[in-house]
Amino acid sequence: MINYGKQFLDQEDFKSVLNSLKSEKITQGSKINIFENSLKKKLKCKYAVSVSSGTAALHLIAKSLGWKKNDLILISSITFVASSSVALHLGAKVDFVDVNYEDGNISIDSLIDKINFYKKKKKKIKTVVVTDYGGLPADWDQLYKLKKKLNFSIISDNCHSFGGKYKNQINYQTKYSDAAALSFHPVKHITTGEGGAVITNDNKIASKCNLLRSHGILRKKNFSPWIYKIKEPGFNYRMSDINAALGISQLKKINKFVRRRKEIAQIYNSFFSKIDICKIPYFPTNKEHSYHLYPLLIDFKKIHISKKTFFKKLRKKKINLQVHYIPIYKLDIFKNKRVNFKKLKNSELFFKNEVSLPIFYELKNKDVRNICHQIKNLITYK
Ligand SMILES: Cc1ncc(COP(=O)(O)O)c(C=O)c1O
Repeated sequence: MINYGKQFLDQEDFKSVLNSLKSEKITQGSKINIFENSLKKKLKCKYAVSVSSGTAALHLIAKSLGWKKNDLILISSITFVASSSVALHLGAKVDFVDVNYEDGNISIDSLIDKINFYKKKKKKIKTVVVTDYGGLPADWDQLYKLKKKLNFSIISDNCHSFGGKYKNQINYQTKYSDAAALSFHPVKHITTGEGGAVITNDNKIASKCNLLRSHGILRKKNFSPWIYKIKEPGFNYRMSDINAALGISQLKKINKFVRRRKEIAQIYNSFFSKIDICKIPYFPTNKEHSYHLYPLLIDFKKIHISKKTFFKKLRKKKINLQVHYIPIYKLDIFKNKRVNFKKLKNSELFFKNEVSLPIFYELKNKDVRNICHQIKNLITYK
């Protein structure tokens, strides 16, 4: 079965993990520092705090920004549920912002509408969470201008866009947001098994995340060796050295991972751009897509089979597509929780039409071409 995403591991990865298993410390050892330094170097940011998942990274950033009961958090409706769940855990109120139909990213117009709506209600926006959907950077210049003007914080949910660039800058996430969350789940650009990181240029956020990922335990050189303080309850969100060892060897391959994703996307682009009921992922020249996903939009209204049948038929051919995502406000956890419920037009249409095609380093060109033809046969058959 060909799934939409998959890790790639080689001898270098096996060796790196094996060595870490043989070292004295398999957690809280030296690999964490090495991995964090490599992340900082690659993403050109001041601080990197490795953690046990992308969700943990989002939770720690939210805690560092001081999210609390009844704070208003705006999140784009087409993203993974993790940031919204964090808001619910902290008692914050979530409202959802529509996306652009053509790229799945947060719509600046919809965000401005929300800002004006809450301005009239005299309700302050605490944070906007922005996902670079599928690996395409959002409209960061405009987001940054709004942030400065209205004084809200921005979390970059950067779990899709490792290796993406905005205006040729790889460090755009930490430049325009307060902090960014990364995920190293196996379907992502690089993997540590499970894992994530907070990256930021803000010393206070980095220190707080660092403290809270390890129970809030504070030790100082002038304390007796067995003494520590805890001023705020924390978590165990640490990444182990075994995972970090995998991260170190994976990160060395990031350029070739992104390059291969772009090659695959190119094949899909040239094939599906010729089919008028399909819309290939949009990207303007000032952004570099890193293709965590290849989201193809198919006008299912214009074809003879339902999306469900389309999926089932492809599964029979051993091609397992996905959909990213169900608009978050449709999930049960948000029933009665949304402050301003209204269906979001583009999100609804995006959800109806989007299918994520397989894209990962090891996917062969012949498999890509087979996926193209199988899809074409299904959607153009009369
Ligand atoms: C946009 C987004 N945010 C957050 C997460 C959570 O990351 P993790 O699975 O590492 O907790 C994911 C993972 O799929 C994601 O895609």
